Amino acid sequence: MKPLILVNFKTYPEATGKKSLPLARKISQVRKQKYQLAVAPSILNLKEVSEKTKLWTFSQHTDSVDLGAHTGRIPAKELKQIGVTGTILNHSERKIPFNFLKKIMENCKKERLKTVICASTISEVKKVAKLKPNYIAYEPEELIGGNISVTESQPVIIVRAVKAARSISPKTKVLIGAGIHSKEDLEHAFLLGAKGVLIGHAVAQAKDPTKFLREMLP
Ligand code: G3P
Repeated sequence: MKPLILVNFKTYPEATGKKSLPLARKISQVRKQKYQLAVAPSILNLKEVSEKTKLWTFSQHTDSVDLGAHTGRIPAKELKQIGVTGTILNHSERKIPFNFLKKIMENCKKERLKTVICASTISEVKKVAKLKPNYIAYEPEELIGGNISVTESQPVIIVRAVKAARSISPKTKVLIGAGIHSKEDLEHAFLLGAKGVLIGHAVAQAKDPTKFLREMLP
């Protein structure tokens, strides 16, 4: 399995509305065979990006509901129908109570959607590992959106996160995120046992996202 490089578009002005598909296309021009590139555009752009690029696409969130009388919700089944690869869940900017997370994971597994559950602490890593997602993304909340990366500031905790996830759910791969912005960050992430990264502003707001990613991915 190739390391996963997942770019979260969040709702950055550079990455939403009419700018979402062009950004995804720029990312798809990176073409580095060693990595699996993936994007998480805003919900409103997800279908278009899934249909018009070959990138893996992830929803930034999923709700616990099935198809039916639910207003303003994102069901796993509908994500599958529109060709989405998977979903980010429990992001620090969109936390989900554990009972709901459990139900969402059941729905995602039924639909064969890939799951990336975010965790901000080691105890959260241990808790969400019980749900056996495909990936756990360790992202300390205080470093998200900044320029000091989690690899620089918390190398020991990353090793603990990888160990904790592995001991509870051996097949789950650990991603790390928060402030990731350089080749060194990526190399350190792999050395510390991560199998990929989640990147937000460094790519979404880069002047030239293609060049930025090409230089970042060795
Ligand atoms: O989902 C990715 C994320 O929260 C990290 O954001 O901007 O620190 O790379 P950023």
